[in-house]
Amino acid sequence: MSRHVLVTGAAGYIGSHVCRALASGGITPVCVDDLRTGNAWALRWGDSLRGDLADPGFLDAVFARYPIDAVMHLAGSALAGEGERAPLQYWDNNIAAGIRLLQAMDRAGVRRLVFSSSCSIYGQPARMPVDESLPIQPLSVYGRSKAVFETVLADVATAGGLDYVALRYFNAAGAATDAAIGEWHEPETHLIPNVLLAIRENRPVQVFGTDYDTVDGTCVRDYVHVEDIASAHLLALERLQRERASHAVNIGSGRGYSVREVIACCEQVSGRRVQVQEMPRRPGDPARLYADSAQARALLGWAPRHDNLAAIVASAWRWLEQGEAQRNSRAEVAPD
Ligand SMILES: NC(=O)c1ccc[n+]([C@@H]2O[C@H](COP(=O)([O-])OP(=O)(O)OC[C@H]3O[C@@H](n4cnc5c(N)ncnc54)[C@H](O)[C@@H]3O)[C@@H](O)[C@H]2O)c1
Repeated sequence: MSRHVLVTGAAGYIGSHVCRALASGGITPVCVDDLRTGNAWALRWGDSLRGDLADPGFLDAVFARYPIDAVMHLAGSALAGEGERAPLQYWDNNIAAGIRLLQAMDRAGVRRLVFSSSCSIYGQPARMPVDESLPIQPLSVYGRSKAVFETVLADVATAGGLDYVALRYFNAAGAATDAAIGEWHEPETHLIPNVLLAIRENRPVQVFGTDYDTVDGTCVRDYVHVEDIASAHLLALERLQRERASHAVNIGSGRGYSVREVIACCEQVSGRRVQVQEMPRRPGDPARLYADSAQARALLGWAPRHDNLAAIVASAWRWLEQGEAQRNSRAEVAPD
């Protein structure tokens, strides 16, 4: 019998790469998304069902229709700034809808879950690189919602209802190496696509905070290629199939780059210059954040394959330059 994995947020940036990786691994992704921030053209692998996780009837119908082995839960509201302005929306989607999903899994007897957590749960950690033993002290509504959902998962696992791997991604970046899919958000808030779009459209890029205690005053982050994040999902699934236990692991490259270093890399890859507009700091932005991913190596056998920034930026640039036809395609999604 073929294997099916339910992927929530399948039309999103990371979800679409996860679906592709599952299909390459011989697993059928059952793609669930309501397209609130995702793209119908990104749903190219497996079966697609349009619906909201907050709708228990929709979820029960999905579980009844497919023999689901496991769930990969990527759907969520993922913009830190928006979370500060609309906390109830973030708690509703990242916690309440997530609980609806766990309840539907319970009713269907599905007990393996891979969850998209985030490095934002660490806030500004006392030491760097960040390992999983550091305290969870998020600085944003978004980070708190991820931390709370990890707590919910831990409680359900302790009660014997679930085995899970929470993947604490650092900054997802890049696009499929063949430029078939990539990042496309409206509005785009992530640094690399923003710098590349500014370069393409010949307009300035905004840099938030230039007086941090870092190498050049700008924030330092860990950029991990989206295909490496996707491969971590398959390894997490294998781990859950091997052993009934739950884990939370960092998924990062282990190297930090400042905003100015990223901009310089984008200029080098594109061969064009971009003007920088210096802006004040944004609340809740830690100065430095990069991962110790030793635990992901030890538990999952995961290591990033795309381990330099220029290669990551080059894949994002190819997607921007070559992905136009794909982005304009009118893919249809089956109604619920
Ligand atoms: N992009 C990053 O750097 C990053 C870093 C850490 C964690 N994450 C987490 O990874 C996950 C995926 O991130 P992304 O960058 O691909 O975001 P995204 O916005 O591109 O994808 C999220 C997808 O979920 C869908 N969705 C949201 N709420 C839904 C609901 N209630 N019902 C059905 N579909 C719903 C959206 O339509 C979208 O397609 C998120 O949970 C995010 O918090 C992302």
